[in-house]
Amino acid sequence: MARWLLTGGAGYIGSHVLRELAASGREVVVVDDLSTGIASRVPDGVPLVEMNLSDSNLVTVMRDYQISGVVHLAAKKAVGESVERPLHYYRENVDGIASLLEAINEVGIGNLVYSSSAAVYGEPVNGEVGEDEPTVPTSPYGETKLVGEWAARAVAKARRLEGGGLSNVSLRYFNVAGAGAANLGDTSVANLIPLALRAVTNGERPQIFGSDYPTPDGTCIRDYIHVVDLAKAHVVAAALCESDNPGELSEVFNVGRGQGSSVREVLDTVSRAIGRDVDPRDVERRPGDPAVLVARTEKINADLGWEAELDLTAMVESAWSAWSPKP
Ligand code: UFG
Repeated sequence: MARWLLTGGAGYIGSHVLRELAASGREVVVVDDLSTGIASRVPDGVPLVEMNLSDSNLVTVMRDYQISGVVHLAAKKAVGESVERPLHYYRENVDGIASLLEAINEVGIGNLVYSSSAAVYGEPVNGEVGEDEPTVPTSPYGETKLVGEWAARAVAKARRLEGGGLSNVSLRYFNVAGAGAANLGDTSVANLIPLALRAVTNGERPQIFGSDYPTPDGTCIRDYIHVVDLAKAHVVAAALCESDNPGELSEVFNVGRGQGSSVREVLDTVSRAIGRDVDPRDVERRPGDPAVLVARTEKINADLGWEAELDLTAMVESAWSAWSPKP
């Protein structure tokens, strides 16, 4: 039986990945320092080791549980905060994966699925991006995610030179939303949908950051992906790694729906989901926002046979079901 270590498994995305990995028949062990993770998201029967990735006991955990692969999600992920505290992001995200890769090497683990981000693309001229789009991140967060991809690839190459291998897949997440269960919602309230739900809950008007972009309705277009679909992408990525023997593979995949939604469309969907007009307010543009950022998904569709199944309505309705307290 394959047993995978999941870093960040007590987080919003991690707890969904955990459930999909387990549903696929893999055993899962969670490592999470619980800095933002919530222990109750990890179901009974799944070991939760409260530990930072720099802890030298990580190797012992990997050996004790006879780990065959790692899904690495544990990281800081707020773009704005990364601009204010770049070194915090470099320490947490870059030192984090470096420590993890050291432990992976020491134990001789051969499979790694890494959580990357569409933030590696920065502000592309053409908003529909394939994996071969130049990577020009515009925030320290995006930089650290890109460095993580490079580190995994470089370590894999070095292992191959030594006659071994580290099959690794980096998944570039687009705009993750929704919830797979009422107790698994995104509690960080940092992105458009949770911010809109909070505004509504507080009797306030959601804000639209800029309505003069060169898009059909003037607001920014993003590729929203349901967290359950995203979690399933990790399972097919893990399977790809497992099928790759002796570890030749270093791959990058976009994970999105390949479909753009504008801020206004998202807020209209929120209005419908909660059954009343949210009456958004147009405010200034937020610095650094590209007008359009949508995934090209042909590669993951073809190579992994993965396709998103859930739409924006499902994302907003499930986010609202998981939202508490409601007004
Ligand atoms: N927005 C608003 N009002 C708000 C919040 C957001 O109009 O109150 C707009 C933003 O300007 C943007 C869109 O809604 O146009 C989505 O914004 P988010 O902050 O939800 O998400 P971002 O696209 O900025 O970033 C998200 C993740 C990043 C990730 C990126 C990849 O937060 O971690 O997607 O595409 F890198």
